Amino acid sequence: MLDDQPIFEIAEFASFELFSPCADETVWFFKDLLGMVETAREGDSVFLRGWEDHYKHSLKITQRDQPGMGYAGWRAMSPKALDRRVAAIKDSGLGIGWVEGECGMGPAYEFTTPDGSVQRLNWEVDYFEATPDQKSVLDNRPQRRPLTGVPLKHLDHLNMLAKDVTVNKQFASDVLGFRLSEHIILSNQVEAGAWLRLQTRSHDVAFTKDATGEGGRLHHVAFAYGTTQHLEDAAEVLIDHGLEIEAGIARHGISQAQFLYVFEPGGNRIELVGQLGYTVHDPSWQPVAWRQDTLDSAIIWQGSPLPPEFDTYGTPNRVPTNYRTPNRYVMAEAELILGRA
Ligand SMILES: [Fe+2]
Repeated sequence: MLDDQPIFEIAEFASFELFSPCADETVWFFKDLLGMVETAREGDSVFLRGWEDHYKHSLKITQRDQPGMGYAGWRAMSPKALDRRVAAIKDSGLGIGWVEGECGMGPAYEFTTPDGSVQRLNWEVDYFEATPDQKSVLDNRPQRRPLTGVPLKHLDHLNMLAKDVTVNKQFASDVLGFRLSEHIILSNQVEAGAWLRLQTRSHDVAFTKDATGEGGRLHHVAFAYGTTQHLEDAAEVLIDHGLEIEAGIARHGISQAQFLYVFEPGGNRIELVGQLGYTVHDPSWQPVAWRQDTLDSAIIWQGSPLPPEFDTYGTPNRVPTNYRTPNRYVMAEAELILGRA
């Protein structure tokens, strides 16, 4: 809080860099199966966006030895809001410094969460401009719906595994201005998860406790459909192309959103959101605390339980797993499509 007023200086989750040990196959997953649109290639990276993402890119896929997150990009409310947040981040001791812009995003200030996950904050962006064959008849859509795969609409939220949820939640609240929507408090009073919002959607970021005791790993990055039918269509396509669906289609109690978790060929957990969660308009919203006796409904409201690896598998992965990622069958199929086989 700033003089007892909400900070409201960061507007949205605008971009995300995903590391993949098989970037071509990861690009195949997002482009061919989920209909994302490629907007640029630079060095080892490919830039993509969903058809309702307004900026030039929302996802950057970069070839690396290990899967995981490169950075999460956040857009400030204004240039002055950016300056004020950068000053607050510097005061927190977690600032790194300014980095050059890339693919339509202007200069960004880089910093980390207390657990060491890299974040970027910026103001300047280039908007996506549809070519004549991409243009929608609706002027309020950045482009018309692509005909490839089952096209997801936009980047939605991010979940990072945390060594200490409370420390990361406090940093996000006090320094960045996130507001707590819901959290999990275990019977030993340990905070096991926190879901925080910037504006009205139930959450833009979540920190969940890493059962391995590590911190700073990617649990999942989420993209939205907003419609049950599109999620069901996506599930059909993913299964038919050999992708490993970890859980869903089901609904969490927390956020009430409808989900499907799938591993992209590089091994990162991707969440696809069908029906969106609730929105918050109440300025005096009191965070919802889920406790041991209500935990089951918090995690799964409708559908089957999550596998035990849901609490331990993150990227880069550190634990033995029954998961078959990276999925050799998928990679073989992707290679066939990419013309390498
Ligand atoms: Fe999520």
